[in-house]
Amino acid sequence: MDKKIIAVVGATGSQGGGLARAILADTNGEFACRAITRDPSKEAAKALAASGADLVQADLDDVESLKKAFAGAYGAYCVTNFWEHFSGDKEKAQARNLAEAAKAAGLKHVIWSTLEDTRALMSADDKRMPFLQEKYRVPHFDAKAEADAHFAGLPVTLLVTSFYWDNLYAFGLGPKKGEDGTYGWVFPMGDKRLAGIAAEDIGKVAYGIFKAGSKYIGKTVGIASEFLTMDEMSAALTKKLGVSVKYNAVDADAYRGFGFPGADELGNMFQVYRDFEKEVVGARSADVTRELNPSTLSFDQWLDKYKSKIAL
Ligand SMILES: NC(=O)c1ccc[n+]([C@@H]2O[C@H](COP(=O)([O-])OP(=O)(O)OC[C@H]3O[C@@H](n4cnc5c(N)ncnc54)[C@H](OP(=O)(O)O)[C@@H]3O)[C@@H](O)[C@H]2O)c1
Repeated sequence: MDKKIIAVVGATGSQGGGLARAILADTNGEFACRAITRDPSKEAAKALAASGADLVQADLDDVESLKKAFAGAYGAYCVTNFWEHFSGDKEKAQARNLAEAAKAAGLKHVIWSTLEDTRALMSADDKRMPFLQEKYRVPHFDAKAEADAHFAGLPVTLLVTSFYWDNLYAFGLGPKKGEDGTYGWVFPMGDKRLAGIAAEDIGKVAYGIFKAGSKYIGKTVGIASEFLTMDEMSAALTKKLGVSVKYNAVDADAYRGFGFPGADELGNMFQVYRDFEKEVVGARSADVTRELNPSTLSFDQWLDKYKSKIAL
């Protein structure tokens, strides 16, 4: 029997990579992986091809290339990478291209990797955090949420993702060594819980959604593995890394002023996680996440697997 093709955008990255590897690992499964990349010669693409993926070149900025890449597929995993350009408007334009290509190809199931619109959580005259890029509170959340509308009319599952624990090694957000030899990390999170997950598990959950057939079409699925305070995460890091890790809560304005690229954006994002803990946690279900991917790692399990990547 011919396998149903899933066109995986971002296959060389974290989310799409997790999905591509999940499809390829399930050799008796009903799906085949079409891995989409701008550069089939890169190592991550070649590794997928070596595991059996069909590589197809396409660019999110080029809708015609996406139409070709989606043609003949059953489904597509659609993700955009805000952090490559830091522009909410560009992210929306790329999402519009994805949706247009999905419609042109007549796909049977599309997963759009999205986040919530944080502007809905506070009134427009709320002064607790600045607007960024004129109209967003957290551009990489709000732009994705706005882009949900582009997928209307498609057989779509809106997948609301969570903070990757992998940011601790891949995004410079891990604990830093202080002068006294202990490790510290700073967030404007107060004592509130952060919705977290291993990046690889997002793709595995997406695979579960495709495998479930029509069950999640037309649905929004919010996922996270665990909801942990920074003190709880610090205690786990201390135990697993064998060094003392202490969390320092700072004010969101102070964090926004740190000056690294994206500090204002992340300051707003962590403040949303802090000030709207109930809403953010409530929009995600660890139970549904585990139903869709029973092997979803806990933070302790994630540390066992990835702690050597955290630079000390
Ligand atoms: N970090 C977090 O905690 C977190 C949490 C939730 C959501 N997110 C969201 O996750 C998104 C990024 O996903 P990720 O972490 O899986 O990405 P990633 O690991 O940084 O990799 C980026 C992927 O996007 C592809 N890509 C980027 N621009 C493209 C373009 N113009 N045309 C075609 N492909 C393009 C790249 O493919 P090629 O380079 O091979 O072409 C690559 O596969 C961001 O928008 C972010 O907001 C992140």
